[in-house]
Amino acid sequence: MLSQRSLSPILGVEITGVDASRLAGSEFAEIECAFFRGQVLVLPGQQLSPAQFVSFARRFGPPEPHVIDQFHHAEDPNILILSNRRKDGVPIGLADAGTYFHTDYSYLQVPARATMLYSIEVPRAGGDTLFANQYAAYDDLAESMKRRIGALVAVHHYGNRNVPDEMSRTAASPLTTEQKAKMPLITHPLVRSHPVTGRKALYAVSGSSYGIVGMADDEALELLDELAAHATQEKYVHRLAYRVGDVVVWDNASLLHSATLTDPDDPRTLWRITVKEAEAGLRADDVLAASFASRAS
Ligand SMILES: [Fe+2]
Repeated sequence: MLSQRSLSPILGVEITGVDASRLAGSEFAEIECAFFRGQVLVLPGQQLSPAQFVSFARRFGPPEPHVIDQFHHAEDPNILILSNRRKDGVPIGLADAGTYFHTDYSYLQVPARATMLYSIEVPRAGGDTLFANQYAAYDDLAESMKRRIGALVAVHHYGNRNVPDEMSRTAASPLTTEQKAKMPLITHPLVRSHPVTGRKALYAVSGSSYGIVGMADDEALELLDELAAHATQEKYVHRLAYRVGDVVVWDNASLLHSATLTDPDDPRTLWRITVKEAEAGLRADDVLAASFASRAS
């Protein structure tokens, strides 16, 4: 048995004493189960090369390189460099990414299963990530609201619906014209059954959701804003601080998350990989779900 501890009553699990670059199959099975139960997984004290980090990520699912391709790692495009450092006046990574509540890749048809960060350099202050438990937020809704939204489908595209000014530090990271052209409109259920655990969660009610199919825009935005305010209340949120060497993995299907702004002159660098869910109907998810259900019981 691996050494596990809860990070907070609302979510999060830390597993110590493991090397993410050389996990036995049985160790990974335990880690994966803890991940889906805890929603945020922390593995402290890791020392990973780019190839080792990507190999670890592949055990969770297929990596999907980020649309912002100018900050892909030179050794592997599956890694996106998040950093406020500059070299010769030129940014080496994406700064201020995702400083609003959102779910990664909810603007894609096949959204992200997990996002993982490997912490390379930690600022003197700040740089935490906020995670909001969307299982709990759904569970606590009034039955009348659950009935109202149960069959609704939200319309998504890349961006932060509450901050249209692309140059704001709390907007979605700006895209080039070519990158924008790759971003179609996408729909996802507002209440989504988790593809592995089967539990219902509010899905991406903050961030990339811009409307609801068959509903007037003003009514849709009012409902989305009401749900977002409910879903990001402090009682659902855990604040995670990073240490150098932490690998942090989070479950996008059951969480909203938000980065927090840091001092641009206080160096901070992380590597990020995002892996996608299996395509709908693929057998891989059914097998994993059955395995999770048997271990969770
Ligand atoms: Fe994000």
